[in-house]
Amino acid sequence: MFATRTIICIGVVVLTASLAQAATSDYTLVDHFHSQNFFKEFEFFSQPDPTRGFVKYVDGATANRDGLAGYYQNAVYLGVDHTNTTTSGRPSTRVSSKKAYTKGLFVIDIAHMPAGKTDNGSCGLWPALWTVGPEWPSSGEIDILEGVNTRSSNVVTLHTKAECMVTNTGAVKGSNLATADCSSGNGDVGCRQDTYAKNNYGAGFNEAGGGVYVVEWDTSVINAWFFSHGAALPATLLSSSSNNGTAAPAPDTASLGPPLAVFQPDESCQLNQLFKDHNLIINTDFCGGWGANDWHDDETCKKLAPNCEDYVGANPEAFAEAYWLINSIKVYQKAGNNGTAAGGAAMKKKREVRQALPFMA
Ligand SMILES: *[C@@H]1O[C@H](CO)[C@@H](O)[C@H](O)[C@H]1NC(C)=O
Ligand SMILES: *[C@@H]1O[C@H](CO)[C@@H](O)[C@H](O)[C@H]1NC(C)=O
Ligand SMILES: *[C@@H]1O[C@H](CO)[C@@H](O)[C@H](O)[C@H]1NC(C)=O
Ligand SMILES: *[C@@H]1O[C@H](CO)[C@@H](O)[C@H](O)[C@H]1NC(C)=O
Repeated sequence: MFATRTIICIGVVVLTASLAQAATSDYTLVDHFHSQNFFKEFEFFSQPDPTRGFVKYVDGATANRDGLAGYYQNAVYLGVDHTNTTTSGRPSTRVSSKKAYTKGLFVIDIAHMPAGKTDNGSCGLWPALWTVGPEWPSSGEIDILEGVNTRSSNVVTLHTKAECMVTNTGAVKGSNLATADCSSGNGDVGCRQDTYAKNNYGAGFNEAGGGVYVVEWDTSVINAWFFSHGAALPATLLSSSSNNGTAAPAPDTASLGPPLAVFQPDESCQLNQLFKDHNLIINTDFCGGWGANDWHDDETCKKLAPNCEDYVGANPEAFAEAYWLINSIKVYQKAGNNGTAAGGAAMKKKREVRQALPFMA
């Protein structure tokens, strides 16, 4: 029964690959991270938080011992301590891919992201899924999925060292380009797109069963799409879904519809020079440069405690839902864009500095 089904599926996959060839044949799967290999391919970051968050990132052995990271329900679990009070920072996890990439098509299937059960529960949280290169901001940063406190929709942002003006023409209606220069605030602020859907971030994302982020970082544009698991995925994305094995062809991005966020640089902005050798990072921060400042402007959070740190330290139970559950991450690249070897070397030198975002409140 299962054998027959598998054979039928393979036939379908091959057919899809040839149909989609015009747009996607140049993308080849270079990495697939999932619930059997993830912790071999990602490493734990356990240094002090570069954004001065109220967090204590633990190493792999500690995460394993305390149940803060592991494989769970066929997915990758990355959590935080939600049992102890603390005055020195809440234990949490931050991982970084060992490989680095220059350009590519990233298909990130997430079942659950850090959130609160109630609006209160999100106070203090700053979850992020992002990519960054060495010597920040010289090699750029792409923030795919992040937010703080009671924000209910994702914010997608690029950060560069040199000026890079972008437009977001072609993005879904409602995505708003808040700042157009990706180097604004000396890179701290970046070019940021605010989105509006409640199912693309936090508790709303989880209620809909999570979703799939697709990021295409190419020579002349960076686009991010979002598809909720609350609705059928586009047909072209099914071929690369987490259940379809490592031979799955890349989705045809021309068939995905309007992106959630579009970063279309003007001619003076050279993405090839501003973005390179990015490691993929997934973390759950508390307070920090963005979250702690935003606390004082957040009508719900500021009523709970005089500052973010007091609340996060005293209310472990508020963070029971503050975990990532990653189904799968697939990385596709075009021939000649294979940054993995050089990126791996650069990774060791990397300072992993990420500045506060003082103007983002
Ligand atoms: C909570 O505190 C106990 C007692 O100090 C400690 O053994 C345990 O590791 C802590 N749990 C986490 C998840 O940090
Ligand atoms: C938020 O916390 C306050 C104070 O602890 C409580 O009164 C309120 O009911 C909470 N709101 C929700 C939605 O849980
Ligand atoms: C695998 O991909 C094919 C299209 O190539 C799709 O029809 C099928 O539903 C996918 N299977 C799963 C389990 O996502
Ligand atoms: C990228 O490089 C790795 C290791 O050098 C190799 O195994 C892989 O096939 C390359 N992929 C592409 C798309 O060139």
